[in-house]
Amino acid sequence: MSKPLKIAVSNQKGGVGKTTVAINVAGALADRGNDVLFVDLDPQGNATENLGMMERYDDPEPNLFTCLTDSTERERVREIICDHDEMDLIPSNIDMTAAEPELTLSRRSGEQLALLLDMVEDDYDVILVDCPPFLGNLMDNALFATQNVLIPALAESTSKRAFELLFDHVDALEYDYEIGIEDIGVVINRIDVRKTQATEMIEWIESAFEGKPTWKVRERAAIQKSLDSGQSLAKFDPDCDMVNVFDEIAVEIERVAESQVADGEATA
Ligand SMILES: Nc1ncnc2c1ncn2[C@@H]1O[C@H](COP(=O)(O)OP(=O)(O)O)[C@@H](O)[C@H]1O
Ligand SMILES: [Mg+2]
Repeated sequence: MSKPLKIAVSNQKGGVGKTTVAINVAGALADRGNDVLFVDLDPQGNATENLGMMERYDDPEPNLFTCLTDSTERERVREIICDHDEMDLIPSNIDMTAAEPELTLSRRSGEQLALLLDMVEDDYDVILVDCPPFLGNLMDNALFATQNVLIPALAESTSKRAFELLFDHVDALEYDYEIGIEDIGVVINRIDVRKTQATEMIEWIESAFEGKPTWKVRERAAIQKSLDSGQSLAKFDPDCDMVNVFDEIAVEIERVAESQVADGEATA
């Protein structure tokens, strides 16, 4: 059986739509028949809440914190996976706020998530990791475990600096761990076409990422409401015009998954 494609949804800037994009791409992939595992790696647990699983955020041991930071607990990961209508979820946990310093003390500080996912990944076609809004051990764990990154960004000038910081970080990680991290593409999110700056920034992003797909998600009240309802946009409001965009991202992810399997077979 082939390995699942793993993707980190990442940008160290907060509020750009990582959680929103991750949930909706996961929903679109599931709708297309993929078995999806969603990992909420953000200590704030927004995805856990937006998937309607907030009661799991206070779970006692085992939880994501114990499975990630205590190697003797790692094999209990199956016990912490919860069943959402559209996907499986590893929820975040209140104790994840202590994960950054705890991982610094660990011997293989960037590899713990990869080791944890090794235990369950054969059950899935795609694993999506929703990253926290900072560059630290958790982000390193997400990037190392997945080696693929999908980047949500706002059509604002602040995004230029955010890209620079993210790519410097990715480059350093690639060097340190001797890995290659693939960009799946950029999701330009919360576009408000009434703002002239938005058009300029969309053009800038498209030229900066030439050769990589860029998708455009508009500001939509239905997107906010779907998150409040604990489900993806496609389930909450199938007629919303942005459903199609998340579906297109899912199609591209399936294409990348197939090509990475083909590459793997070629080098095996
Ligand atoms: N396209 C959109 N239209 C409307 N609201 C959005 C959209 N994308 C994100 N939001 C809202 O913006 C807020 C921040 O998004 P979120 O996905 O949590 O960002 P991040 O995970 O990067 O911090 C959330 O309240 C979310 O509901
Ligand atoms: Mg988030």
